[in-house]
Amino acid sequence: MKNNIITDIPSKLTLIQEKLCQLKIAGKFEIQNGDEGYSTAPSNIALIKYWGKNLNRKQIPDNSSLSYTLGGFRSFTKVTTQGRFLPETNEKTISIKNKLFLNNKDIEVPIPEKMDILIRSIFNNFADEITLKIESINNFPTACGIASSASGYAALVGAIADLLQLKKHLRTEELHIWLTEWARLGSGSATRSAIQSSEESFIKWELENNSNENFTETSEMIFHPKWKQVEHCVFVLNENEKKISSSDGHKSASTSPFHNIRVAGVTKKIARMTKALKEFDFETVQQISEEDAFAMHAVMQTGNPKACYLDEETSKAIALFIQMRDINEILAFWTLDAGPNIHILFYKDAKEILRDYHAKLQELLNREIKVFKNVYRGGLLIGKNEYYNILDKELLKSSLN
Ligand code: PMV
Repeated sequence: MKNNIITDIPSKLTLIQEKLCQLKIAGKFEIQNGDEGYSTAPSNIALIKYWGKNLNRKQIPDNSSLSYTLGGFRSFTKVTTQGRFLPETNEKTISIKNKLFLNNKDIEVPIPEKMDILIRSIFNNFADEITLKIESINNFPTACGIASSASGYAALVGAIADLLQLKKHLRTEELHIWLTEWARLGSGSATRSAIQSSEESFIKWELENNSNENFTETSEMIFHPKWKQVEHCVFVLNENEKKISSSDGHKSASTSPFHNIRVAGVTKKIARMTKALKEFDFETVQQISEEDAFAMHAVMQTGNPKACYLDEETSKAIALFIQMRDINEILAFWTLDAGPNIHILFYKDAKEILRDYHAKLQELLNREIKVFKNVYRGGLLIGKNEYYNILDKELLKSSLN
């Protein structure tokens, strides 16, 4: 990083940024004070996790990962410009001061430094003097155990793409790279939320290298149509914000004796899961997801410093789930993120048993446990109409009915 700008960006993104500079010089952008951009993006849950990253290079993960898109858990973001594109000058003065407003409130909240740096980096070279006002809403309660950084960064990048009318200026392939790469540079897992897709999807974020650089590619996977009948819900065991942020957690991953072992096995797991998704081999997807969630938490708990997100209650809840799942022979599996809340993916027939599970879990823990069920599918949407079309839709239910 130089002058609070990410300079260490992959060559495929540099090429697109250069193209945008050329378009600006050719007078193709007409951004005025008050122009707006809109986008809405889903969150995602990893089935094969990303944990640990190369600290010398921006957001290059130690391993590839694979996620399921949580279409109903969304961020809605609007950006408004304050300023305008200036004619090219030799002197580059970065005077932007972006502003962030959350959840429909008029109160400006401090913009996280990494978000400010991301915006400056996107506009660097072709629009030095733009300030962005960012208004972002999450439709899911903050306390529901779903990380908002993936959906938040993807929606931010999508809204900037709308502001810059990139659908018009870039080819589909270029837009895909632009969205997934900038989202990745905001927050690693956000790259898996920055894919435009009209239905549910499984996303692969793959680590690649050639002789010149390490880079990643994010893509939608092919899957058997029966996966469309798979549903997702999250049982909220703890609503508090996690004590160790994932950014800090990633830093200590490599100190765990299990980290390299886990990382070494990921390529094979992704290959097996890719095949299982194509064939609707539920058992393999279940086995790999559950094993990898435990493997990631083992790495977390044995690093220095430790990051213990899997607590006693979560362990009890997982044990009860496995017991009921196995007795009743339902198609369902659990996974966990960097937090104590349990995500369940299940084939539609399993709902009845999951309702029993919910009742038994509340009995076991002796308190009410909230559950949120995803009832909407689909990926990143760019544009004002697309944003308003789903803003008032029912995207989540707070029951399993
Ligand atoms: O995107 P980050 O830096 O918040 O890391 C997220 C890591 C996990 O959610 C724990 C796993 C994953 O692959 O999403």
